[in-house]
Amino acid sequence: MPTDYVNPLRDPRDKRLPRIAGPSGIVIFGVTGDLSRKKLMPAIYDLANRGLLPPGFALVGFARRDWANEDFSKVVHDAVREYARTPFSEEVWRHLAEGFRFVQGSFGDDDAFDTLAATLADLDRVRGTGGNHAFYFSIPPGAFPVVLQQLRRSGLADPHGDEWRRVVIEKPFGHDLASAQELNGIVNDVFPSESVFRIDHYLGKETVQNLLALRFANQLYEPIWNANYVDHVQITMAEDIGIGGRAGYYDGIGAARDVIQNHLLQLLALTAMEEPVSFSPAQLRTEKVKVLSAVRLPADLSASTARGQYAGGWQGGQKVIGYLQEEGISRSSTTETYAAVKLLVDTRRWAGVPFYLRTGKRLGKRVTEIAVVFKRAPHLPFSYTDTEELGSNALVIRVQPDEGVTIRFGSKVPGPAMEVRDVNMDFSYGQSFTEASPEAYERLILDVLLGEPSLFPQDEEVELSWRILDPVEAHWARQRGGVDQYVSGTWGPASADAMMARDGRTWRRP
Ligand SMILES: NC(=O)c1ccc[n+]([C@@H]2O[C@H](COP(=O)([O-])OP(=O)(O)OC[C@H]3O[C@@H](n4cnc5c(N)ncnc54)[C@H](OP(=O)(O)O)[C@@H]3O)[C@@H](O)[C@H]2O)c1
Repeated sequence: MPTDYVNPLRDPRDKRLPRIAGPSGIVIFGVTGDLSRKKLMPAIYDLANRGLLPPGFALVGFARRDWANEDFSKVVHDAVREYARTPFSEEVWRHLAEGFRFVQGSFGDDDAFDTLAATLADLDRVRGTGGNHAFYFSIPPGAFPVVLQQLRRSGLADPHGDEWRRVVIEKPFGHDLASAQELNGIVNDVFPSESVFRIDHYLGKETVQNLLALRFANQLYEPIWNANYVDHVQITMAEDIGIGGRAGYYDGIGAARDVIQNHLLQLLALTAMEEPVSFSPAQLRTEKVKVLSAVRLPADLSASTARGQYAGGWQGGQKVIGYLQEEGISRSSTTETYAAVKLLVDTRRWAGVPFYLRTGKRLGKRVTEIAVVFKRAPHLPFSYTDTEELGSNALVIRVQPDEGVTIRFGSKVPGPAMEVRDVNMDFSYGQSFTEASPEAYERLILDVLLGEPSLFPQDEEVELSWRILDPVEAHWARQRGGVDQYVSGTWGPASADAMMARDGRTWRRP
């Protein structure tokens, strides 16, 4: 049975004490890529800087470039200098960099994997990594199966005695339900399910975890968190940027597969689930699976979904080009850069309450939020003109940026008349806590090294999410006449506004 390092000074019941990873190392496949440079390398340094990695930690990079260990070390150094969250410490860096190795090779190359196995065996000896290795797949999804086969062939997937081997898989996990099931089959053939960590980096965000604290540590919200009081829920992830240099990845995937299938459905699950018996990984997963199983698409998908593609426009004072003009995108592409879906959750708690999910690129603002919008008070003992500017009460969890929670409610406008207008009450992480929030990848990489699976979606959750999205994709594939356009810097296509208007509602303008 693999065991984790146990800090003898730590009371395991005290979650406030720092959790420090035991002897271990991480191999990053695709280490020369964008994700690795901007997120993974800085997160590893930040963990080391916070004293959360073991003294002999090892980082092995694997890619095709002809780099020596020193070249690799220089690339990590530059990435850390540019993107790390915590201040640079020469001493921490020197210590960490002693554990860096680079293995050159292609995924189809048996010799490269044999070299990797020899490198890890050597690190076990000189750095004391104890045969505990995490394999991080920061690679094109098409390469997942071949790397898994290589790990099996070279024996790297098989721990001996108390050692552990874990695999970390980046999104996208499949392209639809069938491909996700196939991939789950391949992964589970090589690694047991408790050793598979599927990344949804949204779950590593403090604000997302705070959703559980907000709901289940307080008495205030849970009594009204249901169909008796909630009118609808809006979950938004808006980006103000375009696809950048990621045409190869994005075209053919689109906004719904890229964001709704994973991040937004996970946020829906955490918003709508019942209270878990405990926060153990199994109990948390049980509740998420229950709610994802209860999600239903409305019958008329033309009326309850919308998609669009950004056209040129202005953003942040700059003129920007449309999706079809981006480098590497076919002029006839029908990939959506905006997607909106209405979902229902068939449980007693949520009967009849729509959940509206939307995401898009080149929208008015970069913002991710969950807005729980409440029903109007059943009776307003005011004249109509007094409450003309009164909206609905709302509780908004601001996931990013400006992390926090806002409650919107009606308040009397100062003066002789009884005029009521919406005001906001704000909680802001930045103002309430002195500790800065760690980056999502810091939390998630540490959890992998600790063998803590709570924040990683399991195979069933991934498959249920595809089961929800597949009919929408099939519906869009059948539609003729291309995709609606929206001007960059606005809030999406007119069809998305029409979708809400049909229900007598409007999208929030965060
Ligand atoms: N970028 C992001 O912000 C982001 C966010 C979420 C998820 N992801 C996911 O994370 C993964 C990586 O994304 P990325 O943006 O970093 O990709 P990327 O910049 O295209 O990097 C891909 C990496 O894979 C390596 N690679 C490709 N084919 C290879 C082969 N046959 N043998 C050996 N190495 C090979 C490349 O190394 P060489 O060319 O040097 O050999 C490169 O290091 C993808 O699955 C993506 O969907 C990315």
